[in-house]
Amino acid sequence: MNTHTLSLPQIAVLATGGTIAGRAGDASKTAGYKAGVVGVDDLLDAVPGLDAVARIHAEQIASIDSKDMSTALWTTLASRINALLAQDDIDGVVVTHGTDTLEETAYMLHLTVKSAKPVVLTAAMRPSTALSADGPLNLLNAVTVAASNDAAGQGVLVAFNNQIHSARDVTKISTYAVDAFRSPETGVLGFVQDGRVEFQRSVTKPHTTASQFVVTEAWPMVEIVASYADASRVTVDALVAAGVKGIVVSGTGNGSIHATLTQALMDAVKAGVAVVRASRVGSGHVMRNGAASDDALGTVSAGTLNPYKARVLLMLALAAGSEDAVVLQRLFDTY
Ligand code: SIN
Repeated sequence: MNTHTLSLPQIAVLATGGTIAGRAGDASKTAGYKAGVVGVDDLLDAVPGLDAVARIHAEQIASIDSKDMSTALWTTLASRINALLAQDDIDGVVVTHGTDTLEETAYMLHLTVKSAKPVVLTAAMRPSTALSADGPLNLLNAVTVAASNDAAGQGVLVAFNNQIHSARDVTKISTYAVDAFRSPETGVLGFVQDGRVEFQRSVTKPHTTASQFVVTEAWPMVEIVASYADASRVTVDALVAAGVKGIVVSGTGNGSIHATLTQALMDAVKAGVAVVRASRVGSGHVMRNGAASDDALGTVSAGTLNPYKARVLLMLALAAGSEDAVVLQRLFDTY
């Protein structure tokens, strides 16, 4: 190693699978492939110029399609990231992940990583074998962001298609496009292109070192139920009977809920289940006492968190012993 190489930051790349590690039998295939089969060393070998950006410490944490992400794997991942970032010789972490549940994992890490060092998730929409695969450039950009001093203290980030998003706000918005992520209410945090990292705004809500949440091994059962035409109470009743601790409603519009489902949820609240109103719309916020009276129902409004992120926050809050609707509302207003 020469002096220049030694002066480069050391970034840990933790691979979990996804399309970025996907392989198809034919280079023209961008949909029919198997996700999570290419190992981290091969992913890194496909990125020319990476060694000029950072020294890499690579680990294979999992090899899954992220549709199969589990809370057990979340515990492993968050714990490993916290351990690595506590080391003086690690300057940042990059996680390669599938796009499908990336926003959930990213938000979970945003609330449970206890370090100001950069943590950047990246992914790909095309498998590694595809013509114009997007993974190598996304990975190079993610390492570039993780190696940047400007990324410190910004919470967990997502580097994708030259954009930098906050884990809190980002969501997948396309089933096929390479430009697959947006932060609908807030916009991008910045961009990364040709080695240049520029942040245009910073994150205001608490995260990482300012978050009160810690990763848990005992994730409470929290499920998501949607409201739609003719929604019945069958699912909610079955969940309550199964011992669910929390339900997030993916409501219509501003978190409005079908009358039949509303009655079932009121009964769930009476049975001690925490109920959070989110929206299936994809952007906008759900206002407390807006389209439904949270005061009357005993529910909590999710604000700008989509149902999947609301579930993450509700699980962490319940795991920390916060069950009261007033306390939960304060947490949802804060985070
Ligand atoms: C996955 O989420 O693991 C598969 C889909 C993707 O990464 O785009």
